[in-house]
Amino acid sequence: MGKIGTQPGAEAKHKEVDIGFMSIFIDSANINEAKTALGLGWVQGITTNPLLLAQADMEPSAFFTELRKFCDGPIFYQLTSNTFESSIAEAHRVLELLEKQLVVKLPPTELGFKLCSELSSRIPCCPTAIYSPAQALVARESGAQYLAVYVNRATRLMGDGLKLVEDIAAVLEESQTQLLAASLKSTDEATLAFSAGAHHLTLPYSTVKEMSNHPLSDEAIKQFNESGRGLDQT
Ligand code: G3P
Repeated sequence: MGKIGTQPGAEAKHKEVDIGFMSIFIDSANINEAKTALGLGWVQGITTNPLLLAQADMEPSAFFTELRKFCDGPIFYQLTSNTFESSIAEAHRVLELLEKQLVVKLPPTELGFKLCSELSSRIPCCPTAIYSPAQALVARESGAQYLAVYVNRATRLMGDGLKLVEDIAAVLEESQTQLLAASLKSTDEATLAFSAGAHHLTLPYSTVKEMSNHPLSDEAIKQFNESGRGLDQT
């Protein structure tokens, strides 16, 4: 069969990590950013890609080993091999490393969707850089658990990334495939992507840090702190 779970021990090691109805992930391969974001309590996991890993100051395997010391949620890793056989072998290697936390990202190509069909019954798969509802339908039919839509890039390159999210959310209705909005550059873009139908968001570190803040909240809290009273004040 060639299914990944037919490798000795592979199926036993991979049990899908339970995630909530909606999850926010950090999009980073920086270990300090990852630690801070995952320590906030509401960031559920991490997405990486080959470019982020290339910019990191650690080898990918060292990064993932360190990451697993404090991350117990989904960890997205994108396969970089160019053939079916070498991609399956790469998936096995990363499964050994990440076990049940692994989500395999795949390019939206004939090879990528074929790999998705092959792997998705054993490992959650996420075709990435999806730019059309047609690709989303193929991802759905390939058994993808997620697909990643590059929202800001789509706005820059095609005109309206949020409309793309809406259109793709429509073709994913009543399927097992969940829309992960990626390439989000601001808190507004993140929340609008969610309102447009994204099930999950992955945010760069800077946006993660901005999400919980508002200057008017700071002002209100300053006033409470300066003039208020609670159990600890006499
Ligand atoms: O995982 C990368 C994806 O979020 C794309 O982001 O900033 O390269 O458009 P960006």
